[in-house]
Amino acid sequence: MRFIVLFLSIIFIACQQEEMVSIHDPLAVTVSDRDLMDKANSYLGVVEPYPQPPAELVDLVELGERLFREPGLSGDGKTSCQSCHRIESAGVDHLSRSRGVFGRMGARNTPPIAHQSYLTRHSWEGKHTTLAAQVQASLANPNEMGGLPANTMMDMILQSDTLSRLFHSAFPGEISEDVQVQVGQALTTFLQTVVLPTRFDAFLKGDGDALTSREKKGLDLFLSKGCVPCHSGPAVGGQQFQRFGIFRDYEPFTGSDSVDKGLAGITKNPSDDRVFRVAPLRLVSQTAPYFHDGSVETLEEAVWIMGKIQLNQNLTDEEVDHIVSFLHTLSPDTTYSLAEGR
Ligand code: HEC
Ligand code: HEC
Repeated sequence: MRFIVLFLSIIFIACQQEEMVSIHDPLAVTVSDRDLMDKANSYLGVVEPYPQPPAELVDLVELGERLFREPGLSGDGKTSCQSCHRIESAGVDHLSRSRGVFGRMGARNTPPIAHQSYLTRHSWEGKHTTLAAQVQASLANPNEMGGLPANTMMDMILQSDTLSRLFHSAFPGEISEDVQVQVGQALTTFLQTVVLPTRFDAFLKGDGDALTSREKKGLDLFLSKGCVPCHSGPAVGGQQFQRFGIFRDYEPFTGSDSVDKGLAGITKNPSDDRVFRVAPLRLVSQTAPYFHDGSVETLEEAVWIMGKIQLNQNLTDEEVDHIVSFLHTLSPDTTYSLAEGR
């Protein structure tokens, strides 16, 4: 009996010591996996792989993917969606700002094009409420695809055996007068298939081992520091408008050479000055440089700036590193092509 009591008290002391270790280690995960999952699920959410497209959409998706890589869709015959949104590179080109048709420099950084179905707003200042509208704007933008006239677009398609074959399978009957609408429909349908679930989705679904303790601590900080009221939903953003620079102006921190009015550029309403869509953070570890003007090179710096200007907090290097470890789990671990996302 005495032995049992002794044995139990040793276990008790051992447990207490373990408890104390976690109290004194500021970076140990303090909440259980279950609590962390519940809290994460209440703000964020899983992305589901695009199911095998139904038969009537298979040809449309194939056409869309082909058109995404087609320079003939641009005003100078040399630029494609793929020139900036590289399919093999998370849908971005890693430049601060990109050159479109005739070498014209765009005003903003190229965002990734995955998970578009999980966004309620498209583009940096959230100008477009539907993906179809965003795609038409991308085709028409004078600094991107350059607005190819409908008749030139039709000729380009008819002159390509592959494109006209794919077009006729996707749209039985004639190519319509509204060829731009059909092209937009194919591109939109292709983009909707680009979804890349990661280990983070496995964690949200209940697999506690899907994340390392370091990544879990980063998630815990991401939740507790107050990033999630803004970066919410399955795309970890892309749902709301917020001022970029709530406590302080952004440009002294990002080193931006000019100030972008954001939403106010469209609404002309002074209260929308510097208001942007909260950036979606899926794939963010692979989409440097950061922010709407690509002014910040590293994710560590971007996270620290967010703490400072959005939350009025000085995140420590350790906190930043942990948050960044978590943000890495929003990208697949292996190299991939966006076209394999489905
Ligand atoms: C010259 C580079 C360039 C080309 C070419 C280009 N884009 Fe973009 N794309 C951008 C930039 C820059 C933005 C952000 C624009 C903004 O916020 O003002 C963007 C935004 C987008 C978005 C919104 C992403 C989001 O998260 O909201 C989609 C979708 C998109 N482009 C699809 C396309 C498609 C489809 C094509 C081809 C028809 C295309 N783009 C051609 C640079 C480019
Ligand atoms: C008040 C809302 C708000 C809060 C809080 C907030 N963010 Fe942001 N975040 C934004 C907005 C808006 C942008 C887009 C900025 C721009 O347009 O350049 C953004 C952009 C980012 C980017 C750059 C994404 C890219 O693709 O370039 C990262 C990384 C980021 N946030 C991480 C965080 C982290 C980590 C936290 C918590 C420490 C946080 N944010 C807190 C609103 C917020």
